[in-house]
Amino acid sequence: MAARVSGLAVGFLCLLAMLSPSAQQSPPPDSPDLKSSIDTDTPPLPDIRPPPSSPRGYELDVPPRNVTCKDTDGKRPGCTGTCPRRCPQCIVLCPDCKTLCHDEVQMPRPVPPPAMLVFGDGQFDNGNNGYLEPPNYPYSGTGRLSNGANLADAIAYTIGFPQSPLPFMSLRGRISMWGANYASVGAGIRNSTNGERSIPLSQQLEDFRTTRALMGIMLGGEAKLRAYLSKSIFLLGIGSQDLDPRWNIHLANSTEIQSLVALYGEAVTSLYDMGARKLAIVNVGLIGCAPQIFDYRYGCDESLNDRAAAFNAALKPLMAGLASKKKGLFYSIGDFHSFTTTVFADPSAYWMVNIRDSCSFTDHPERTCSPQEEHWFWDSEFMTDQACRLTATAFYYGPPQFTAPMTFKALLEK
Ligand SMILES: *[C@@H]1O[C@H](CO)[C@@H](O)[C@H](O)[C@H]1NC(C)=O
Ligand SMILES: *[C@@H]1O[C@H](CO)[C@@H](O)[C@H](O)[C@H]1NC(C)=O
Ligand SMILES: *[C@@H]1O[C@H](CO)[C@@H](O)[C@H](O)[C@H]1NC(C)=O
Repeated sequence: MAARVSGLAVGFLCLLAMLSPSAQQSPPPDSPDLKSSIDTDTPPLPDIRPPPSSPRGYELDVPPRNVTCKDTDGKRPGCTGTCPRRCPQCIVLCPDCKTLCHDEVQMPRPVPPPAMLVFGDGQFDNGNNGYLEPPNYPYSGTGRLSNGANLADAIAYTIGFPQSPLPFMSLRGRISMWGANYASVGAGIRNSTNGERSIPLSQQLEDFRTTRALMGIMLGGEAKLRAYLSKSIFLLGIGSQDLDPRWNIHLANSTEIQSLVALYGEAVTSLYDMGARKLAIVNVGLIGCAPQIFDYRYGCDESLNDRAAAFNAALKPLMAGLASKKKGLFYSIGDFHSFTTTVFADPSAYWMVNIRDSCSFTDHPERTCSPQEEHWFWDSEFMTDQACRLTATAFYYGPPQFTAPMTFKALLEK
């Protein structure tokens, strides 16, 4: 594995400071005081959400549109009175519905859970890999593979957080009570995937163990910690690297998918043992479909997509089995594979114009994606801000066919 810049020594000094008598009289954990004090010695990442004073958010230049909406199957009551641009759930709920779009329509921001803990790969990493030695994939400027929010950020905003949980590596042993992001570009379920140049899932879990210990001290004991974590959301999205033979040599073995699913189950069990009770999972998407950055030879490698589908199919009974055995465990699987398939089949219904080309060129910095560009792909593999927000919205609000056995919203309301 790549060398990690250790900030733990600093962290322990910090911890000692927190344990001093005056620190012990700090306010209870869910008081706004403590939650807002993100104690980090690195500059905070830019908040890529629009400032609250901006009335129209980041859709600034897009005129409101009224869209025709027909609730043909009678299953889309959420369609009424929402505005497609401002409230993308309308696009998701009713791509062919007629809905009047009023400027004043705003979805109330949900109340976020106490904390959000993120585990996964490049769809979710919001800066960790920039701290590896040597840095791995830092090229987007914000440490994300996106022109704005990545999927972890978009889910954080959708569930009500004003900012995405900070990358664990940037915390350098310090603590943010509202969570952290452990994801790493190129990370695998397997340690060996991607030549150990990323932070594999096993290490991400160890990193959470570090956070957890500090959180326990802040909260004043294991029982309080468990109560806090049981209401928090654990987001997990990993597997795309392990299912690609370029990055995982074990795929030559016909039992590899079963082995990966077994390792996934061990990771979920480990999270459960550490206190996770609400698990939001994002399955593996259409990893075979990727735009070519320069020559635009878009195509889908169906053998890769099929392998992802086989893995996803095995994920369902795995999770159902674990939930039946582990008391109090709730989960939702966001079906990234089927959502992408649906959008790609009719992009314009989802306000996507281009699903074939990436909108950025890493070798051509002058060519950058604007938020208004309705591209699915930001680079040759990862999604644009808009695609991430659309996906997050689908998993949170529904419709139900894109999550099982419940939406992320229902999971958070458990
Ligand atoms: C959208 O519908 C509203 C309400 O009927 C109407 O006032 C407005 O002019 C329409 N906007 C557009 C762009 O058609
Ligand atoms: C992966 O690495 C971790 C720590 O680096 C180790 O504890 C674990 O046993 C490894 N897992 C496998 C399956 O090799
Ligand atoms: C395939 O994987 C199984 C399970 O991990 C292992 O027992 C077996 O030895 C592997 N076979 C080969 C040819 O590597």
